[in-house]
Amino acid sequence: MNKVIVTGGLGYIGSHTVVALSEEGYQVVIIDDLSNSHEGIWDRLQSLCSTELTWERINLSERTQTLETIQRHHDAMGIIHFAASKAVGESVLHPLPYYRNNLCSLIYLLEAMGAHGISRMIFSSSCTVYGEPLTLPVTEESEIQSAQSPYGNTKQIGEEIIRDVVNGEELDLKAICLRYFNPVGAHPSGIIGELPLGTPANLLPYIMQTAAGDHEHLRVWGDDYPTPDGTAIRDYIHVMDLAEAHVKALSHLDDMSSRIDYFNLGTGAGTSVLEMLASAERAVKGKIPYQVYDRRLGDIMKIYADTAKANAVLGWKAKRGLDEMTETAWKWMQSLKESPI
Ligand code: WQD
Repeated sequence: MNKVIVTGGLGYIGSHTVVALSEEGYQVVIIDDLSNSHEGIWDRLQSLCSTELTWERINLSERTQTLETIQRHHDAMGIIHFAASKAVGESVLHPLPYYRNNLCSLIYLLEAMGAHGISRMIFSSSCTVYGEPLTLPVTEESEIQSAQSPYGNTKQIGEEIIRDVVNGEELDLKAICLRYFNPVGAHPSGIIGELPLGTPANLLPYIMQTAAGDHEHLRVWGDDYPTPDGTAIRDYIHVMDLAEAHVKALSHLDDMSSRIDYFNLGTGAGTSVLEMLASAERAVKGKIPYQVYDRRLGDIMKIYADTAKANAVLGWKAKRGLDEMTETAWKWMQSLKESPI
């Protein structure tokens, strides 16, 4: 039984995980309603994967559709649940669709799993659950801070719902919550990558668009942080490393003595905005203009992961360095310019 359901499988992290699963011999059922993904990714995924792929275009916040779809695929060994809205700023302006999309879909999915006997779940969580950490690097035991946005809150509540469900009697569930740091980069083929809708809020997509001439300059949000070069520090992780961690987590579920566990997925290294820019300049082989602006509201100064638990327990370690992240992001940007999706 090597069939797995991937919700949000046409999205950024989901699509790369579908490739990693296929490489390990899994058949994949993608559930994706294209609300923040593109139909063209489906054809591209089929060209990259050698195992059977199926796509169900349904909205997981529709309960009946969700139950029916999971029933059709009740022979799946587990579900990797990515599908969620994820724009932090938008969630502040429009919290209700965030709570509906992210929480109703999780609840219906869990109900469907209970109804059809699917007992393994990997949940996409986020380092945002740690807020501005009091000590670095952050371990899985670090204190969870109150969420800074409705989006972040849906991830915290999502983790809590799953914790309560694994402890309850309604379904026989084992779950892993993966707390992502800052995923960047693209598949080395340049065939899939991140497709931000509109102007990207995230650093590397914006840098790449600036390098491609779409923006006059990168806006560096603050250079007066108490960090070595004054810019904020994050733990950027190559999306293929992240994808491979999902495959490891899925197979780890059966070895777990507890019913739920949590893992940080980062590299353990902190990188500043200007260090990322320098790596991007190496990748594009040219200068990328930037200007310093005031700090962005709600930004934290510095966060990076302690990855010892994922290294030891999942037998997984991020292998790809910063330059591989920026090189693959640039290759993807160039391939998008040549053949837009
Ligand atoms: C990184 C750094 C910016 C854009 C994101 C998600 C969050 C979580 C983690 C999933 C910051 C600076 C950015 C720009 C800049 N992921 N920056 N100019 O804020 O760490 O959070 O990843 O849950 O939800 O939003 O990532 O890429 O937006 O910013 O100077 O044009 O780059 O100020 O210091 P962030 P980011």
